[in-house]
Amino acid sequence: MVDAAAIAKLREAFAADLSAATTTRDLQAVRDRYLGRKGGLVPALWAEVAAAPVDVRRDLGRLANDLKTFVESELSDRRRALDRRAAAGTAAPQTDFSLPGRIPRVGYRHPLTLVRERIEAIFGRMGYEILDGPETEDDYHNFEALNMPREHPARDMQDTFYLGVPFQRTVVPVGGNRPGLMRDNEPGVDASTPRATPATLLRTHTSAMQIRYMQGHLPPVRVISPGRVYRRDNLDQTHTPMFQQIEGLVVGEHVTMADLKGTLVGFLSDLFGSGVDIVFRPTFFPYTEPSADVFMRDPSLGPRWLEMGGSGMVHPALFEAVGYDPERYTGFAFGMGVERIAMLLFGVDDIRQFYENDVRFLEQFGH
Ligand code: DAH
Repeated sequence: MVDAAAIAKLREAFAADLSAATTTRDLQAVRDRYLGRKGGLVPALWAEVAAAPVDVRRDLGRLANDLKTFVESELSDRRRALDRRAAAGTAAPQTDFSLPGRIPRVGYRHPLTLVRERIEAIFGRMGYEILDGPETEDDYHNFEALNMPREHPARDMQDTFYLGVPFQRTVVPVGGNRPGLMRDNEPGVDASTPRATPATLLRTHTSAMQIRYMQGHLPPVRVISPGRVYRRDNLDQTHTPMFQQIEGLVVGEHVTMADLKGTLVGFLSDLFGSGVDIVFRPTFFPYTEPSADVFMRDPSLGPRWLEMGGSGMVHPALFEAVGYDPERYTGFAFGMGVERIAMLLFGVDDIRQFYENDVRFLEQFGH
């Protein structure tokens, strides 16, 4: 027969079971034991209360109800306490202050960027201005103004990527000292138009920048222009269809071939060390006269002469194209491959490595 004492005993039993429960599994077992639908002690108590004589049923009902509320709230308090402990318990071992710190992985600058910056620093110290230029070009700047008219066989020297659709560029005004001139246009194109001559090709050399710069600036000129160029070459150990060049141009009164030689010898000795040998060998370029290929030999790397680039005295036809007086001004120009320089500096024997983006290659060059 259920009575108030039996209910009080059940409450004590529950409190004892609860305090013995130390895991969530224990807690679940206590819940099942007291609140389980089938055979749970509290529902069983309710059944007994319902069967009790009418005169005590009401009081017993209230006590049973209190017990149920007590059991439920104690169980949920304990569950929360256990959850908190579990959270704290798993967090604790994660923080091991004795472990060495992790060094964050930082990126590396590309070897071609490092080389380009070294080249720019050397010419910067010599007082050169450093220019960027467009990679899409028109025939005029890439060929014609460089003394390579349409039927000129020299155009066969470079296999060109032509654009399927001419690319209309908007003229970006560049601060020059020839404000009257439309810097981006061929002569004869209305200077008031904001439209440049459409590009029809990917530039095959940075020499196109010689014309662009002179169109916007009067002498004295002392510039280098690094950038990407494109040719229809197949990929192999020494060729990529896109590569980088550095163009140089100096124009003034009394600029001589001795200045050209002195500049390139100074530049290459600065970059590779004063022990290198440099020779100039006569050759032909339509935009220079005389023209010279530049060869370098580094005795510490072996007896071979390596071709570093082309150079020469600016052909008077270029001055005529840009409206400089060829009787008054002379100049020299040169063009060099950046990959070739990087390959020599870093001992890389396959040009393709620069463009494969293999981190194992890239991370060898430091920041
Ligand atoms: N444009 C030449 C090339 O792509 C390199 C060159 C030769 C540039 C002679 C020059 C130069 O400025 O004077 O191979």
